[in-house]
Amino acid sequence: MGYFRRNIENAKGYEPGFQPSFAEATEGRPKETNVVKLNTNENPYPPSPQVLKALAEIQPEQLRRYPDPMGSTFREAAAKVNGVQPDNIMCCNGGDELLRMALQAFCDKNRPVAYPVPTYSLYPVLAKLQNCKPIEIPFDNEFNLPAKLAGTGAALTIVCNPNAPSATFISVEELASLADELSGVLLIDEAYVDFAENNCVSLVKDFDNVIILRSMSKGYSLAGLRFGYAIAQPDLIAGLMKVKDSYNVDSIAIALATAAIKDQQYFKETIEKVEAERSKLTEQLGKLDFDVPDSQANFVLAKCKNAKADEVYEKLTQRNIYIRYFNYPELKDKLRIAIGTPEQNDKLLSALKEILSEFG
Ligand SMILES: Cc1ncc(COP(=O)(O)O)c(C=O)c1O
Repeated sequence: MGYFRRNIENAKGYEPGFQPSFAEATEGRPKETNVVKLNTNENPYPPSPQVLKALAEIQPEQLRRYPDPMGSTFREAAAKVNGVQPDNIMCCNGGDELLRMALQAFCDKNRPVAYPVPTYSLYPVLAKLQNCKPIEIPFDNEFNLPAKLAGTGAALTIVCNPNAPSATFISVEELASLADELSGVLLIDEAYVDFAENNCVSLVKDFDNVIILRSMSKGYSLAGLRFGYAIAQPDLIAGLMKVKDSYNVDSIAIALATAAIKDQQYFKETIEKVEAERSKLTEQLGKLDFDVPDSQANFVLAKCKNAKADEVYEKLTQRNIYIRYFNYPELKDKLRIAIGTPEQNDKLLSALKEILSEFG
């Protein structure tokens, strides 16, 4: 076409997991009600009742006026929950927006981004859009932090922790050493940290080059709202603010995300339910001849020992059970499965039993 910058013209764009329609069957696809949707790591439980109450209380005036550009009510609530100050927090339109902002703020043609692979497939897409070189350092089979990551000279290093799609966790001590060794910024993508045994927020106090990414999509069941936030020292937050849209989070999203993060009791109960199902699913998949390492996220990465992962994926899809398969060399024999409700997980397991029996 020739209208676009060359890197945009050549970019493939991010491929999100399939989102079935809520209302009606479209393009021959089934209604959501018939679907077991375990492909985009959503929380299977609804958001806090406080969120729905806040939604019902939205006033027309909140729509007429522009939103608070800083999302101050959320900043204050998130600061309290994380034991930091409001000026350590920046609201964003989902964690994905923070990733885009970070690439825009720190990277260009001469300032590469580095990250271990396999990981969240949005990173290389954003690198391409920003026209910066992605330095991809392979994880070993156990997804340990690659030593080489410290020496890339990248302007921005991203570590997804817990990592997607492996659901593995790198210790806070190892990431502290990495932050210390790097000359550039270390962004720790904690989109799934609500389901992990620890988190890296303490590093923000000690390191002026650490940014923590948090998402309200997973632990707080608000993927449809599009809300996330950064935690970092005030100088980094102030720099990132320069690249954000003035009104990047809307008034309704600020009110609802604030209600969600304030209801810590509901949040903890939901996390416990997901974690209990995660243990059950891990055990059951193990009995079905999958290799399932312990997960620190709301999904598992199951290795098919005696069946072809892509065929299992196709057969599940035919039964309206959606999970994720990545056609990359290191992931070819694996399936990523989000933790669902007990009913959804039971449907998945009985379908898998049938499918695996077909493989003999
Ligand atoms: C590793 C990782 N980081 C960040 C995000 C962004 O989440 P959101 O934009 O929904 O907050 C996702 C979403 O799936 C993710 O998997």
